[in-house]
Amino acid sequence: MNGDTQEIMNLYSLNKQSNDPSEQDSFYSVRELADARQFIEEGYRIQTVESPSDLERIRKLVHEAACQYLVNKDIKTDDLLDYIHQYVTPDQLNDLRLHIINTLNGNRWVRPAYFRLARHALESIVGNELAMQLRLNLSIQMPEDDSSLLPIHADTWSGDSPFEVVVWVPLVNCYATKSMYLLPPTVCGDPAQMLTNTYAQDSETLFHAVEKDLVWLNVKYGQVLVFNQNLPHGNRINRESETRWTLNCRFKGVFTPYADKRLGEFFEPITLRPASRQGLDYHLSETRNHQAG
Ligand SMILES: [Fe+2]
Repeated sequence: MNGDTQEIMNLYSLNKQSNDPSEQDSFYSVRELADARQFIEEGYRIQTVESPSDLERIRKLVHEAACQYLVNKDIKTDDLLDYIHQYVTPDQLNDLRLHIINTLNGNRWVRPAYFRLARHALESIVGNELAMQLRLNLSIQMPEDDSSLLPIHADTWSGDSPFEVVVWVPLVNCYATKSMYLLPPTVCGDPAQMLTNTYAQDSETLFHAVEKDLVWLNVKYGQVLVFNQNLPHGNRINRESETRWTLNCRFKGVFTPYADKRLGEFFEPITLRPASRQGLDYHLSETRNHQAG
């Protein structure tokens, strides 16, 4: 933690009583407090998507790209995604996944549409000057397939900034082992300390040590999950009879510290406000004048 970060936290703590939801003089709006509560207390927020038409448009594009991959079979059935394992083998899965990811990221409208699914939640939880991941990611997990599992981990353990959140959008109903799990903050304590403890054990041992405390997230199609990637999470072999399809994308405050995932390479600013643009311009012209002088 650098000096500025420490000072922000110290001053914020002094001001904390003004952020009590029961206080008339809270700096947060009622909506912001409501949006943030589950995220703070449970480590995630699940809500209805804020723009159902955008979700439908994205799912339609994924469905069409899947049909295109299946040698232009026009499979009208609504549950193609749930039952994709009847059409492709585990060997073909990564090819299919890459084809769809490239299709999604090749359409400029997709990222703004994705952002609109959780815009207000992100503004409450992260801020209104945001950086967004440049490329959306897609995860497909067929029943009984162990080729794309994520053992228990916190993203910060492998070099992600603790200021990032993940927006996770299911294209099918996700429940039980067809979904993901998270270790709630009340149980987790300090995730950084937990990392120190994990050096002594492999991830499977760690998983079983906390298994009884894990929360399996039930997220239906039409809902969006925003979760705290600083908390341990992961998935197991999908033991349900349907395939899981989820999109994920990271967001963070544009002016918060970056780690391995850099601005420009991985993130780009999406919602800079006029005062920040004006401040950045001012700073840049000052630098240029300096260099000219
Ligand atoms: Fe992760």
